[in-house]
Amino acid sequence: NPLNGARFVLAAHDITQLPYDQGAEVAFAGRSNAGKSSALNALTGHNALARTSKTPGRTQLMVVFDLPPLKPDDGAAPLDARLVDLPGYGYAKVPEAMRAHWRGEIDAYLRMRRSLRGIVLIVDIRHELKDFDRTMLEFCAATELPCHVLMTKADKVSRGQAGKALDVLRRDFRQQGVQGTAQVFSSLAKTGVDEARAKIVALLHT
Ligand code: GTP
Ligand code: MG
Repeated sequence: NPLNGARFVLAAHDITQLPYDQGAEVAFAGRSNAGKSSALNALTGHNALARTSKTPGRTQLMVVFDLPPLKPDDGAAPLDARLVDLPGYGYAKVPEAMRAHWRGEIDAYLRMRRSLRGIVLIVDIRHELKDFDRTMLEFCAATELPCHVLMTKADKVSRGQAGKALDVLRRDFRQQGVQGTAQVFSSLAKTGVDEARAKIVALLHT
């Protein structure tokens, strides 16, 4: 598991503080409390790589993790690889000025970051897509940025309900013309971890 070698690099207040824009990175996005940091920990096999919390809106920084360099198949020079935990959006108690700041920064990041290979969108499997999730999916469609949705906290629902939620989301994708992919996930039960890792590694190699 190449994600196993993830190491914290820095936490950025704005995109100018990010590492030099070369190599390949995949960013984790989602509403506050959806389970982004927990998913990052499950995928990297670290218990506390990304800080998780019961208080939504905790991660108001872009947190960057380095991965071991990627070795291209054609024998070319290894590429730097990174994962980025984006600040959770949609949390009412975050001051409006802070939310406006992050809307701008995330928008600029998605539009300008050349090393960005794809988005992992974390949604709670128990809830419908919210406006912000839809905005993110529309953005990915508009910019042809691949988006993979992890429907997390699947341990909170039955297997049948999880399958149904996945079907609903995929049908929604088809109706909206979204090119995204989706899977069931649980950081707690470690459901779908291998599938998600394989997807992320494939994105980093594109
Ligand atoms: P912010 O950074 O605050 O926006 O939140 P986040 O999206 O990083 O969520 P985080 O990973 O901190 O998880 C939020 C809460 O959901 C915590 O109480 C976690 O323990 C819980 N949680 C996350 N993933 C799962 C999961 O797969 N199953 C269950 N049952 N709980 C989860
Ligand atoms: Mg977090």
